[in-house]
Amino acid sequence: MQITGTHINKIKDAVRQPLPELNQTVLADYVNTFQKQAASYISICRQHGSPLYIFDQAALLHRAQQFTSAFKEYFAEFQAYFAVKSNNHPSVAATLVDFGLGLDVSSGLELEAALRSGCRDILFSGPGKTEHELRMAVKHHRSVTVLMDSFGELAGLEKAARKEKSRVRSGVRLCTNEKGLWRKFGIPLSDLGAFMSEADQCPHVDVTGLQFHTSWNLNPKNQTAFLARLSENLRSLSAEHLSAIKFVDIGGGYWPSRGEWLQPYGTPSGRVLQSSGIEISNPMAHYGIDAVSIETFAERIAAAMETHIFPLVSCNVKAEPGRWLCDDAMHILVTVIDKKAEDLVITDGGIHLIGWERFETDYAPVINLTRPSRAERQCLIMGSLCTPHDIWGYGYFGNGIEPGDVLLIPGQGAYTYSLRQHFIKPLAKIVNLINGKVEQNDTAVD
Ligand SMILES: Cc1ncc(COP(=O)(O)O)c(C=O)c1O
Repeated sequence: MQITGTHINKIKDAVRQPLPELNQTVLADYVNTFQKQAASYISICRQHGSPLYIFDQAALLHRAQQFTSAFKEYFAEFQAYFAVKSNNHPSVAATLVDFGLGLDVSSGLELEAALRSGCRDILFSGPGKTEHELRMAVKHHRSVTVLMDSFGELAGLEKAARKEKSRVRSGVRLCTNEKGLWRKFGIPLSDLGAFMSEADQCPHVDVTGLQFHTSWNLNPKNQTAFLARLSENLRSLSAEHLSAIKFVDIGGGYWPSRGEWLQPYGTPSGRVLQSSGIEISNPMAHYGIDAVSIETFAERIAAAMETHIFPLVSCNVKAEPGRWLCDDAMHILVTVIDKKAEDLVITDGGIHLIGWERFETDYAPVINLTRPSRAERQCLIMGSLCTPHDIWGYGYFGNGIEPGDVLLIPGQGAYTYSLRQHFIKPLAKIVNLINGKVEQNDTAVD
């Protein structure tokens, strides 16, 4: 690969423009909310062991309420579907289904779990559905809407539905970025007319809606820009095809309003320095990129729907939030088992609990519940896996740290529990905190 002068200028820009530092008051208040409950977390840990996941049902319900209220303010007919991939603990889905949400699944495995949860309004999305998965969807067609990912999947679904003599409700996923890796999702917008015509030849597949999904959105710009593009394309559809569209599913991708919290190595300049072999002088610095509130997401998406979509199609709106709903509904508790130096401790749980080297780049405070303090002290907090990437953080909030201390890593509900791995160490137990009390203790988590 050849590095040009333009590349070098861009790299210089990235290094010279560091991200804003995380607001210290916001961080202190966040840490304080957990320190206030230290005694209760420590007692749960004593009773149920360590390491431990704690599922906080009240936090999840609070988010579900906030999310649906935000969108129902603008859309008379709105339905949210929890993206199960973001957290596949069965109690999370069960809680949200009881609350009135549907579920968004992306595999036969997730579909089975959704059906087990009692959910009767399921979206089945995702690329590369197998014949077996399509057959499952057909078998449960009263509960499932299949969001087709390609022309091939349309043919496969028609075949599976014909065999079962069923008519299946479906939608089609639209590709939001025809270049690069996101090409793998959905059909190009320019193929929508052809897709609808092909579906006319499939008497067992009822195409009733459109879906798109954009990710890592700190604000709704990606969603609103795509709605504008979609409207251009809808104009070329026949009146008959337009009237078939009964829903537009705007996908997931809403960043929690806390914003994105990063370690130095997670910032553009940190990545450049790291790849050049330059050590960062202050690993304790934290950076924060703001996200807008869910109410702002709803307001701006609603305005874009009014401008671009509703003049052309009369439809209801669906969404598939994952991260936004479950992020702060699960926490991780670990215990210090070895202190190797004043600034290096090892905990009993490692990053197999979260499935990836998250905290090399993302920041979450490590809170020493045993010795609470408002001060964050520098110390490598590492797990017990045989890899140097097994790190929870470069510091902890606490007044010292010793073997036996219980540490909390809060806000680990999204894309951690469902990515957990059976790697070297056993999986952790999970306890369900219902109305402030432990009501269920799941020993088997896989
Ligand atoms: C199709 C689809 N919908 C919804 C989601 C949930 O996204 P998020 O957790 O960012 O809200 C995803 C995540 O990958 C997805 O692929």
